[in-house]
Amino acid sequence: MFPDGQSGKGMVKVMIFDTHAHYMDEAFAQDRDELLASMKDAGVGTIVEVGASISSTKDAVALSRQYDFVYGAVGVHPEDVEHMTPETVEWLKELTKEPKIVAVGEIGLDYYYEDPTRQVQKEWFIRQLEAAKEMKMPVIIHSRDAAQDTLEIMEEHCDWSQGGVIHCFSYSVEMARIYLKKGFYLGIGGVVTFKNGRKLVEVVKEAPLEQLVLETDSPYLTPVPNRGKRNDSRQLTHVVDAIAQIKGISREEVIRVTEQNARRMYRIRG
Ligand code: NI
Repeated sequence: MFPDGQSGKGMVKVMIFDTHAHYMDEAFAQDRDELLASMKDAGVGTIVEVGASISSTKDAVALSRQYDFVYGAVGVHPEDVEHMTPETVEWLKELTKEPKIVAVGEIGLDYYYEDPTRQVQKEWFIRQLEAAKEMKMPVIIHSRDAAQDTLEIMEEHCDWSQGGVIHCFSYSVEMARIYLKKGFYLGIGGVVTFKNGRKLVEVVKEAPLEQLVLETDSPYLTPVPNRGKRNDSRQLTHVVDAIAQIKGISREEVIRVTEQNARRMYRIRG
């Protein structure tokens, strides 16, 4: 027993860090507060609420103010950039000055849908990357079916030294190596448990544990065995299991190291 009420050395519970969630989504309208209140008991210590539009960026700021263990990211996802103006970029820059806003994102390119056009997506991706550079903030990159253009734009407009994450990494081992070499992190979520997630398993094998971070993308991308249901950060235990198995290490090590990685990336003191 420890008279000061502290647990002994080595017994300190390691907590999961969810680097990417959307709890202000309407999927959580009924039970958001109850769910967030249950996180610590479920072993989830920190969550970053990620903006994906103008309104969800406002929401991310609000949620980060409301909960001590929730931080926020501000940015507009490629599918929503047609609503942006130069003033929106200035507003995002202003928001990065908030103490609990830890990144610019999610920003990037998504060629899965052809609307907005690639040209429009590129323009606002570049402007938001430049804003992050100016404000010296890490970035959260969303990139789907756009590997080459994403890399080309980042080569020109990203300040690699500020760091960031390729969220829901979906590209090849070769592409992963390029970002890892730049010091970026790869966001690993439910897809690593999917039957068709083989490519991501190879990426996890290749990448050093020190450059992986856990993410849910809640309410989306729920891991097996709950695939198809609403996702939340407690489900990350399944992602932890998958990474532990792929790398042949303990679950505790996965949780501990990815937590440190996330704090380093978002510059949150422990
Ligand atoms: Ni997301």
